[in-house]
Amino acid sequence: MKITSLFTILLFSGSSFALNLTSYDSNTFEPWLNKQLSISQVKLIEAISRPDAAEGVVIASPSKEKPNYYYHWVRDAGLTMDVIVEMYNRTENQDLKIKLEQKIKKFINFSKKNQSADALTGLGEPKFYVDGTPYDLPWGRPQNDGPAIRAMALIKFANIKLEQGENEFVRQVLYDGKLPSHSVIKADLEYVALNWSRASFDLWEEVSGDHFFTLMVQRASMLEGAKLAQKLADFGASDWYLRQASKIEDKIRQFTNTRSFSYIPATLNYAGGMNTKKSNLDVAVILGLLRGNTHDNFISFANDRVLQTVNSLISVFQDIYSINKYSRIPGVAIGRYPEDVYDGDKFEGGNPWVLTTLAIAETYYELATLTAQSSERTREARAYFNLADEYFQRVQIHTNPDGSMSEQISRHNGYMTSAYDLTWNYSAVFTASWARVRAKSLLTDPL
Ligand code: NOJ
Ligand code: NOJ
Repeated sequence: MKITSLFTILLFSGSSFALNLTSYDSNTFEPWLNKQLSISQVKLIEAISRPDAAEGVVIASPSKEKPNYYYHWVRDAGLTMDVIVEMYNRTENQDLKIKLEQKIKKFINFSKKNQSADALTGLGEPKFYVDGTPYDLPWGRPQNDGPAIRAMALIKFANIKLEQGENEFVRQVLYDGKLPSHSVIKADLEYVALNWSRASFDLWEEVSGDHFFTLMVQRASMLEGAKLAQKLADFGASDWYLRQASKIEDKIRQFTNTRSFSYIPATLNYAGGMNTKKSNLDVAVILGLLRGNTHDNFISFANDRVLQTVNSLISVFQDIYSINKYSRIPGVAIGRYPEDVYDGDKFEGGNPWVLTTLAIAETYYELATLTAQSSERTREARAYFNLADEYFQRVQIHTNPDGSMSEQISRHNGYMTSAYDLTWNYSAVFTASWARVRAKSLLTDPL
């Protein structure tokens, strides 16, 4: 008995199991992935409306120190709820469906309160205490990706509800078509429409300026919002959102057409905050393409600059992290940007992250899908698919045996580090795995 509990403690301390960086058996991948999906689902659900938090709060991580992530971040919460809504849409398990719907509705009510709270930067406020009051200490604010991301998650829910015939609920709670709006989606869309051209802090909360990631999710929210507005006969708003989307596209083209970089830079028109990111190379760009994807080929994953960005990220992280020197394990562990020094506690050197490594996997699945759809290039499509799997497998290697995933992966030894059970990671497992399922279904030959 004593021995068992000692063992458990050691296991949870994260360092008692032997991480194997010298060999890997790819037959373990699919069974691991299936298990990881069910663990991730439980962790995602547990992060929403915890007993000691206000109803509808989505915690970024249960970690309360080194670092303290026990807050509701609008961005993390929106990305999580987007996955929860998709799960709700896909599942045929009625009990689960009911449970997810309850979580979504609590999140909607909580978000409405967020929007009307007396926050320092209004809807651009990036984080809230778990009791629902806005964070009021110095922080990189506003962060204008949050409202766009939240709007997209809820637009997806509104569309499902409209299909279910729940027009009244949608009109009252989600999109009232009024100004000022008292409904959560419309309030977010108006905020985005009026503020996208202003400088805000990036998703890493460090730099103020114009960011590719932020603009991509803002554009997507305007396009999805315009479609919803159209369905609900709010025609003036629909036109207005479309016009903003097109202006945002012009701004995004400054990033994709610049002659100063061969890849897509993360930030232009620097306006404040950290100024150490000389390379302007950042996985945030890839996240912008993934989370701002409107499936209309605005910027294809196969675009030269996109491929340049992916390749540059991989080669830079290959060089700077010592855990990327092991040649017998698949993939490369990917960080945020090469100049990163944030280790979750201090600023003694950046690490690879789980969600950024999964972003590369997801991108390669998208490329596999694109290639398989566009021509007979099955062999190339399969190569992309295998590459994607390698990045997913790389995450498998670093994941704790109990399936828990922290924000970062130590660049020195490969063990999980920084905020434990980062909610965003578990949603990234789902988005990458859904991209995998889609790609796989197109690769008709046996894999
Ligand atoms: C906390 C932020 O969330 C993280 O992204 C950042 O790197 C550090 N603060 C340092 O600014
Ligand atoms: C730090 C990350 O940089 C930021 O993107 C995130 O919102 C917070 N941590 C919370 O997870």
